[in-house]
Amino acid sequence: MKFLKYFFFGYVIAAIVTLAIVGIRGPARSFTVPPMELYPDMHRQPKYKAQSPSAFFADGRSDRSPVPGTEPFSVPLQSTYYASGIIEGHWGDGFPQEITVDADLLKRGQERFNINCAICHGPAGYGDGVTTKLGLVGVANMHQDLVMNMEDGRIFYTITHGKGNMGSYADHLTIKDRWAVVAYVRALQRTTRGSLETPMDVKPESAKTEPAKVQTKTKK
Ligand code: HEC
Repeated sequence: MKFLKYFFFGYVIAAIVTLAIVGIRGPARSFTVPPMELYPDMHRQPKYKAQSPSAFFADGRSDRSPVPGTEPFSVPLQSTYYASGIIEGHWGDGFPQEITVDADLLKRGQERFNINCAICHGPAGYGDGVTTKLGLVGVANMHQDLVMNMEDGRIFYTITHGKGNMGSYADHLTIKDRWAVVAYVRALQRTTRGSLETPMDVKPESAKTEPAKVQTKTKK
C-alpha cells in the first residue's frame, strides 16, 4: 500500500516537472513559448509575412507576382465566353473566337480525352470506362440526347467545375485544352449521328441558349 502512495505522488511530481520544462502547446493557448523547447516549434522559423518588405528580391517586396503565362485554375477569373462557357447568363453554343477547330485541336482533344475522361466515359464516350465496369453508376453517355443536344459552353462548364460524381478538370486542362476536349467530344458524337458536312466551328457571339445554372460551390 505504501508503495502505491509513493508511486502516486511520484507520478504527480513527474507530470508537473515535465509540464514545467516542455510546456503546454497548441494554437488555442496564449502561452505558446514553453520554458524549454526540446525540438524547434514550427511557429518560429525564418519566413516572410504577407506584405512585408524583403531584402532578397530586387524590387524589395516579399510578395511575388505569378510567373508570366500562369493559367488560373478552377474558377475562371474572366467572365468571357472563352473562359466560362457562358454568354450573358446563358450557356453559349459553338466555339469561341479564340479557338480554331482544326486537326491539331482535335488531336490534342483526343489525347486529353483519353488521358482524363476515358477512364469513366470510355474511349468512345459511351460511359463504359473502367470505373463503370468497377461499379461507378451514372457516368454520362456522350451519345445520349442529353449530351448530344447540350450546348458547347455547358460541356466546357462541366469540365471546368465538374458535376455530381465527376470532379473538376480545371487544374488538369488549360482553358484551350478544355475546348479541345469539347471539340473531340463533338467528333465522337458524330460517329453515331450527324455528318461531316455539319459545321463544327459556329461562332457564338449571339449564340446563347438556355439560362446557365451556375454552381455556387466549386467542386474539386
Ligand atoms: C471519375 C469519373 C469521370 C471522369 C474522369 C469524367 N467524368 Fe464526366 N461524368 C461523370 C459522371 C459520374 C457524370 C454524371 C454527373 C451527373 O449527372 O451528376 C458525368 C457527366 C458528364 C457530362 C454530362 C454533364 C451533364 O450536365 O449532364 C459531360 C459532358 C462529361 N461528363 C464530360 C466529361 C469530360 C469531357 C471529361 C474529361 C475532361 C470527363 N467528363 C471526365 C464521371 C466522370
